[in-house]
Amino acid sequence: MSNTEHVGVMDAITGRHSVRAFTEEPVSTEQLDALFQAARLAPSSLNSQPWRYKAVVDKDMLQLFATKDVSRTQTWLAQAGAIIVCCADTSGYVRDSQASAFYYRENDLITGDSMDGIEDYVERESSAAASAQFGAAAMNVGISISFMMLRAIELGLGTCWVGMFNEQKIKEMLNIDSGLRIVGLLAVGHPASDEVVEHNRKSLDEIILS
Ligand SMILES: Cc1cc2nc3c(=O)[nH]c(=O)nc-3n(C[C@H](O)[C@H](O)[C@H](O)COP(=O)(O)O)c2cc1C
Repeated sequence: MSNTEHVGVMDAITGRHSVRAFTEEPVSTEQLDALFQAARLAPSSLNSQPWRYKAVVDKDMLQLFATKDVSRTQTWLAQAGAIIVCCADTSGYVRDSQASAFYYRENDLITGDSMDGIEDYVERESSAAASAQFGAAAMNVGISISFMMLRAIELGLGTCWVGMFNEQKIKEMLNIDSGLRIVGLLAVGHPASDEVVEHNRKSLDEIILS
């Protein structure tokens, strides 16, 4: 990882943009490990850590991601050095939330009304519809994907989150456990250009409520 440099958090945030053109240089196993190390340190509700990741680097497989069937012909995906398939384990999310609540109660880490509130929350999550459980688990997965996107900047890598994909096709292609849901794909690679991209964003006035 010779191209790793320490980058301030705000530099990583401002330096990140969606990269959709990559060089031929592969993304190494060490670089993928570094991304996953960042992902696993993300916060999650009740420390449930419902994220599960599968990295695809095989060229033929990457070609498949670029097809009409899989990504509505986002052809640039074939150029990525890796595609990280970012999944949510919804039943794991419920199970590990319950386990955390139990642990907090048993060890008196949280007491009184706050502990009752946590148990109410876990109870609600446990009996919620599968779609609601997925939404909550996916929120946590999204945070960890953001951690990878920022760590990638430090590694000299570019990323693009891809939300337009055929979940069923990808699960079949990669033999992903039917209990997992795919939250997003993270395309990763060495950026083909080092151009500085302006962020097109709402102003603070538009997002800060008065
Ligand atoms: C949930 C989500 C889904 C996205 N899906 C796609 C996608 O399918 N294809 C794509 O090219 N970009 C996708 N993007 C990238 C956005 O278009 C991009 O983040 C946004 O336009 C802001 O640009 P920036 O990332 O360069 O700052 C997605 C981003 C997010 C967060």
